[in-house]
This record gives sequence, structure tokens and C-alpha cells, in this order.
Amino acid sequence: LGNVLWSVAPKLVRYTSSTRDAGSFTRKVAVLGASGGIGQPLSLLLKLSPLISDLSLYDIQHTKGVGADLSHIETRAKVKAYVGQEQLADALKGMELVLIPAGVPRKPGMTRDDLFNTNATIVADLVSSCAKNCPRALIAIIANPVNSTVPIAAEIMKHHGVYDEKKVIGVTTLDVVRAATFVAEAKGLDPTRVFVPVIGGHSGNTIIPLLSQLSPPVSFSKQELDSLTKRIQNAGTEVVEAKAGTGSATLSMAHAAARFTFSVLEALGGKEGVVECGYILSKETEFKYFATPLSFTRNGVERSHGIGKLSEYETKLMEEAKSELNSNIKKGEEFAKAYL
Ligand code: NAD
Ligand code: LMR
Repeated sequence: LGNVLWSVAPKLVRYTSSTRDAGSFTRKVAVLGASGGIGQPLSLLLKLSPLISDLSLYDIQHTKGVGADLSHIETRAKVKAYVGQEQLADALKGMELVLIPAGVPRKPGMTRDDLFNTNATIVADLVSSCAKNCPRALIAIIANPVNSTVPIAAEIMKHHGVYDEKKVIGVTTLDVVRAATFVAEAKGLDPTRVFVPVIGGHSGNTIIPLLSQLSPPVSFSKQELDSLTKRIQNAGTEVVEAKAGTGSATLSMAHAAARFTFSVLEALGGKEGVVECGYILSKETEFKYFATPLSFTRNGVERSHGIGKLSEYETKLMEEAKSELNSNIKKGEEFAKAYL
């Protein structure tokens, strides 16, 4: 699996218009939660891209300032800022891709699931509006706990009769970005040329890096496997602790979301061979929602590349992920039932 993906996986995010032809496939993208720790740098990276014609910034606060600031940058994307619930519908009309980093982040000592009570409602409200105002858009969910917010979004789209399982995706790109960085560091490789498929969910031991399917192929001792796996699974917490109460990963997440966005937009524009990992309704394993490498086309996700052949070590990681992932999924679905 790794070797197949290696030839097609995007390695670097492309920002400047000088390196790309804007062409005829520029797109309309919305960021919901655009004034936040992720929202602001993500919006900046998107504003720099020639792939975007219209950038719609929505938040419950501060978007007017963020929008005015970004709108002075000499790139093609037209920036519009919307603030407050009553402007949400206008922020979403005509959008083809909606990114959702709205929601509270962790503080030290919290799990992602501890964010559920606040973020489940935020995501449910925002996705309900997507269902009404841009039902065909691809919805990329960043807000935690991703393991639960994606099932919530799916149930809400279903309720409105507009669910397209190829278009509701949890963004797990940061796990892939971190895995490549940590492996490259440990093995003295160029991080831009390393691809590690990361499958499963996006929390603790539900994050399953497939180090046996690395591109380029590299072998690891048991000790290396243990320490790299643990670091990749714990990387979010590493940042939460370093930020000491002021938030979680924002800059690396903005990069990861921009990488995901540009891949999706290139695929929507007709580029072939676009692969990114993502958490989505899945038939690959016993889990109803599961992240795998996905091929994207003009219609969103074309197919999953599956999980490949797992090592014994990785089969054990799958076992360890079971109870948390299943209970996160169930919790999201139950919340949606009560919400609707
Ligand atoms: P933040 O608090 O800095 O920003 C969140 C923003 O959301 C704020 O500007 C806030 O006003 C806005 N917001 C709150 N309710 C809203 C609503 N109903 N509609 C629109 N906007 C609303 O937080 P952050 O650091 O940007 O993190 C945002 C979320 O992303 C958190 O849940 C965090 O756990 C998650 N996250 C996910 C990943 C991932 O890999 N998927 C990585 C990092 C962070
Ligand atoms: C991350 O992986 O950095 C995010 O999910 C934020 C967090 O709470 O760790």
C-alpha cells in the first residue's frame, strides 16, 4: 500500500501563484471558525492559493477584522467575512468545500472526548446549515472529537436527505504529517519524501500508524516501533502540554488542513492520482467510520485504498483501538438522534 501511494502522495503544500496555473478550476471555499487559532492561519494559507476564487470566512466573532486584514493580500481569492448566526446561510451559499475548525480546544489533562459536550452542538448546528445552504459541498471536519463529530455530521446530512458519504470527511492529515516528520527525524530521511499511512481514528490509541507500509520502505526495531507509535499517537497531547493551557495545535493543523484542501481542490479540478488519508464512513474494517488512504476525484472520495497487509504489531494496535473508537462513534450517533 505504501509503495502505491508513494508515487502519488502530495509531499509539499503549494502556495504561490507563480508555481501554478490558476486555470479554470478555481473554487469556492468556506472556513467556519475562521477567527480561531486554526482558522486564522488556515485562512491565510488558503488566501495565498491560486486554486481558490472565493474564500468565505465565518465565525461567531472577529471575522470582520480577519477578513479586512486578509483581503489586502495581492492574490486572486476574493475574501468575504461573515459574523454571527444570522450571516451563516450567506457564508455558505455556493460553497464547494466547507472546512470546520469551529469549537473549543483541549487544555492539559483533557481528552478529545472531553470536548464533546461543547463541540458536538457546534458541529451539528453548522452542518445543519450546510445541509440547507450548500448540500453538495464537501464537508471537512477538523473540530474534535473527530471520531464523534463525523458521525454527527453524517446523521444530520442524512436527516436532511442530502448525505453523500463521499463528501463528509474527518481531517486526519495532521497525523500523517506528524508521522512523516517523526519517522524522518528518527531515520535521517527527507521528511518531504516520506509517506506513512495512518488509519483508524483521531485520538490516542485509535490513531494507527502503519510503519510497515512506509514509503520509502524502512525497517524498525521493536523499540523504535514502540517509541514512534507512541509519539504519533500522543503528538496532540505533546502540543497541548507545551502550550500549557493556551490551546492545542494550530499552526501545524493549519498546514495540514491546507494540504488536505489543495489536494481535494486539485482532484475536483480533474487532477488524477490524488490521495490523502481521511476519516469517513467505511466498509474496510468492522468499524463504521475509519480513516484510510482515499483517492479523490471530481466527485469527492472515489475509493478507499483499504488498510493493506497489517503486521502483527499493527493488528494489535487495531485491537487496542476497538473499544474507544466504537464508543466514540456510538456517542456521536446517539447525540445526533437526540439533537434531530
Ligand atoms: P480556538 O478556540 O482557537 O478557535 C475556535 C474558533 O471557533 C473560535 O474563533 C470561536 O469563536 C469559533 N466558534 C465557536 N463556536 C462557533 C460556532 N458555533 N460557529 C462558528 N465558529 C465558532 O480553537 P482552535 O485551536 O482553532 O481549535 C478548533 C478545534 O479544532 C478544536 O476542537 C480542536 O480540538 C480541533 N483540532 C483538530 C485537529 C485535527 O487534527 N483534526 C487538530 C487541532 C485542533
Ligand atoms: C491534535 O491532534 O493536535 C488535535 O486533535 C488537537 C488535540 O486536542 O490534540
